[in-house]
Amino acid sequence: MAHINENYQNLKDSYLFSDIAKKVAAFSQENPQQEIIRLGIGDVTLPLMPAVISAMHAAVDEMGDAATFRGYGPEQGYDFLREAIAAYYAKNGVSIAADEIFISDGAKSDVGNIVDLFAADNTVLVPDPVYPVYVDTNIMSGRKILYMNATAENGFLPMPDPAVSADMIYLCSPNNPTGAVYNKQQLKAWVDYAREREAVLLFDAAYEAFIGDAQLPHSIYEVEGAKECAIEFCSLSKTAGFTGTRCAYTIVPHALERKGANGATLSLRSMWNRRQTTKFNGVPYIVQRGAAAVFTEEGMQQAHKAIDYYKGNARIIADAFTALGIRFFGGANSPYIWMECPNHMKSWEFFHYLLENAAVVGTPGAGFGENGEGWFRLTGFGDREKTKEAVARISALLKK
Ligand code: MLT
Repeated sequence: MAHINENYQNLKDSYLFSDIAKKVAAFSQENPQQEIIRLGIGDVTLPLMPAVISAMHAAVDEMGDAATFRGYGPEQGYDFLREAIAAYYAKNGVSIAADEIFISDGAKSDVGNIVDLFAADNTVLVPDPVYPVYVDTNIMSGRKILYMNATAENGFLPMPDPAVSADMIYLCSPNNPTGAVYNKQQLKAWVDYAREREAVLLFDAAYEAFIGDAQLPHSIYEVEGAKECAIEFCSLSKTAGFTGTRCAYTIVPHALERKGANGATLSLRSMWNRRQTTKFNGVPYIVQRGAAAVFTEEGMQQAHKAIDYYKGNARIIADAFTALGIRFFGGANSPYIWMECPNHMKSWEFFHYLLENAAVVGTPGAGFGENGEGWFRLTGFGDREKTKEAVARISALLKK
C-alpha cells in the first residue's frame, strides 16, 4: 500500500486565491447583471510591453528556422538572461555572478521548491500575516512553523527576537500582503540574526521594482554579509507583467554554505543546481528572450511606465481612504493597499459586504494569517478606469 504524505491533512482545504475565485464565481452566477471589479489577486492587466513582444517575435522566428532552432536549453537559464540580470543588480551596486542566478517559471514555484534543500526538522519563521505559499509548502513537508507578529504597532515589519530560535526565515519586502518595506538597518538586523544562528534567510523581492524611495533596499544583498546567509527570489510577473508568461529568478550565492551532519560543507548553490538539473528543464527560449528585453534600457523604461501606472492606481485608492479616514499601510512603494476594515468588521465579513454591495473583490486579510483579521488587501494592478469606478463605489458605500 502506498503511504501518502499525511502532512497534506494539515493544510486548509483550498489555497486562498482559489477559495476567493470560487466565491466570486458563485456571486457572478447569481448576479449576472453586476459588473464585478477584481482588485483581489495581484494579477496585472496591462499587455506585455513592446520591447518584450518584439524580442519574443524574433525568438519565434528563430525557432521556426533550422539554422537557429533550439531544443532543450540549460536548466539554469540561458547566459544572455543570467548576464542581463547580473548587470541589473550591478547597476544597483550589488555584485552577483551570472552563475548564481537561476531562471525559473515563477517565484511561487521556486519559493515552494527551495524547501527541498532543507531537512524536515528545521524550524521555520514567518511573519503573520504572510504570503500563504511559505506556510503551505512547509506544512506539506512537515516542518515546525513559528510566527512573528506583524501588526500596525510595528508597521507590519517584525524584527528578530533573540529569544526565538529559527533555521529558515522568510521575509518579503516590499511585503505581500501589507505593502510595508524594510529599510537597510532593519534588513541588517535580520542578516546579523541569521548569521549568528547559521540560519538561512529566504528573501522574496518579487515587488522590488515598485520601490521608488531611493533610501530603501531592493535586494537583501545590499546588506553586507547577506551572501553568506540569504537566498533571494524575484520575478518578472510584477516587474514586467509576466504573470501569464512565466519567468522568474532565484539567486543562490556561492558564499552560502552550511555544514551537513557528517561535517561536510555543503554549497546551497550546488544543491540547488543539482535539484534544478534533476527536476526542471528550463524556461522556454522565447520567454527568456522576452525576459532579457526587460533589462534593456528601452525595456526598463517601458517596465517603469507600467509600474508607475499601477502605483498611480494604488495612489487613487490611498487618497480615497485618506479622505474617508480609513487607516491603511502600503501603496507607496508597493502595488498593495492594506486597509483596516471599517466599523470593526472582520476580514471575510468585509469581503462579502464589499462584493454584495459594491461588486468589488479584494482579499481578506485573515486569509494571510491571524494578524490579518480585521484587515483587507486591495491591489493597484487593475485597469485605471475600473480602479476609479471601484473607489467611487467603495466611497459611496462607506460614506453611508
Ligand atoms: C497575490 O495576489 O498575492 C499574488 O498575485 C500571488 C502570487 O504572486 O502568487
